[in-house]
Amino acid sequence: MPSLKTNCAGITSPNPFWLASAPPSNSGEQVQRAFDAGWGGAVWKTLGQPIQNVSSRFGAVRWRGNSGVGFNNIELITDRPLETNFREIYETKKKYPDNALVVSLMVETREEWREIIKRSEDAGADGIELNFGCPHGMCERGMGSAVGQEPKINERITSWAKEFSSIPVLVKLTPNVGDIVPHGLAAQAGGGDGVSLINTVKSIIGVDIDSFVPKPTVGGKSSNGGYCGAAVRPIALHMVASLSRDPRFNIPLSGIGGITNWRDAVEFILLGSSSVQVCTEVMLRGYRIVEDMNEGLLNYMRDHGFETLDDMIGKAIPSVADWGDLDLNYEIVAEINSETCIGCQVCLVACHDGAHQCIHADPDPNVRIPIVDLDECVGCNLCQIVCPVPECIQMVEVANGFSPATWNEHLGAGAQLRPKKGSH
Ligand SMILES: Cc1cc2nc3c(=O)[nH]c(=O)nc-3n(C[C@H](O)[C@H](O)[C@H](O)COP(=O)(O)O)c2cc1C
Ligand code: SF4
Ligand code: SF4
Repeated sequence: MPSLKTNCAGITSPNPFWLASAPPSNSGEQVQRAFDAGWGGAVWKTLGQPIQNVSSRFGAVRWRGNSGVGFNNIELITDRPLETNFREIYETKKKYPDNALVVSLMVETREEWREIIKRSEDAGADGIELNFGCPHGMCERGMGSAVGQEPKINERITSWAKEFSSIPVLVKLTPNVGDIVPHGLAAQAGGGDGVSLINTVKSIIGVDIDSFVPKPTVGGKSSNGGYCGAAVRPIALHMVASLSRDPRFNIPLSGIGGITNWRDAVEFILLGSSSVQVCTEVMLRGYRIVEDMNEGLLNYMRDHGFETLDDMIGKAIPSVADWGDLDLNYEIVAEINSETCIGCQVCLVACHDGAHQCIHADPDPNVRIPIVDLDECVGCNLCQIVCPVPECIQMVEVANGFSPATWNEHLGAGAQLRPKKGSH
């Protein structure tokens, strides 16, 4: 039986699934119910000087009947008294000694950091997470992403935290930067034990086209907020991979952003995360989603022969390359399975209007199954993406006889390139 136990930057938990710092980890009563449901850890809702929130504060992108493919909030850090939070952290940790309890923190001055870290340790926290990511409200006060966007300040505050803390320090980064690597390296240079990413993406979720007010609306006005949920997963995966594959970066990662099920979690782990954190999917579907996550991950590990999470962490990183290291001579084409094709011709429209005009209708008007012109197909995948029948379109490799040729290594040496397709 594989083990789901994880050790992320010295913080251990029975499984890698942690609640991200957000409404689901707002109170002891909630976190305890989450642990009962099977969550391995929780990062407590960010503590700092309690704030006043606005109403309303959430918005969602609904997409073709989906209840929320992307989610947005203009909520700030905790609005509950620090004494109450610390008392509940103490009680929760005492009751659940094996679960990871990390306290997210956001304050301003060196003295405030010293004091709040001491209180977190006294309450029994297993680690702290520095919230350098919140992209609204707090950044206007010089905290959150205002810190995460400035590597020097990130490094300085991380080094304060390390000076004051005897428990592991995670640094939570903002995705609102061009390149995440300098920011991860700054956290590492400051002595951070690990990096959590991503926090939310700066965004306006939508506009009410009748009242002319963006959403979420607060008494006739709105403000930019933080975008999260399934829609941000590709951004998060890219940032996790960028840090994982950088040879200068060598501290553990906690992956966050758009995780909705065990498969998503596996992707983050394969790209180098030793724990994964979830917020939006819990807000939309509740704590019990973790049951399926634990079971799915166990089955996946069993199927792939992984005994421990360490066996699979970062397993996909050797396959992440710069574009210039991809083989320009590798060639695939689309193949339609006439047995399963339902003749809807969605692929034909997509290829004609959005790709390379190489799927054609059969000359016989009674035959609905389209035909791919293999000499013209550029292997872009669009038809496979739009086809409503699973696995009806397969992308198959063409043995074209050309040796691999990448832009970076081989072109200068006069490598032969296969003839271009689809550029008529
Ligand atoms: C309503 C809401 C409140 C949040 N509050 C915090 C917070 O207090 N501290 C923090 O570090 N991140 C906060 N986040 C960000 C989440 O912890 C997480 O990084 C982000 O939502 C991406 O994960 P997801 O796609 O699973 O939601 C909040 C997110 C939401 C939606
Ligand atoms: S989209 Fe798929 S099912 Fe529809 S015609 Fe094309 S191959 Fe057949
Ligand atoms: S892979 Fe691209 S080019 Fe080839 S048939 Fe499909 S849509 Fe057309």
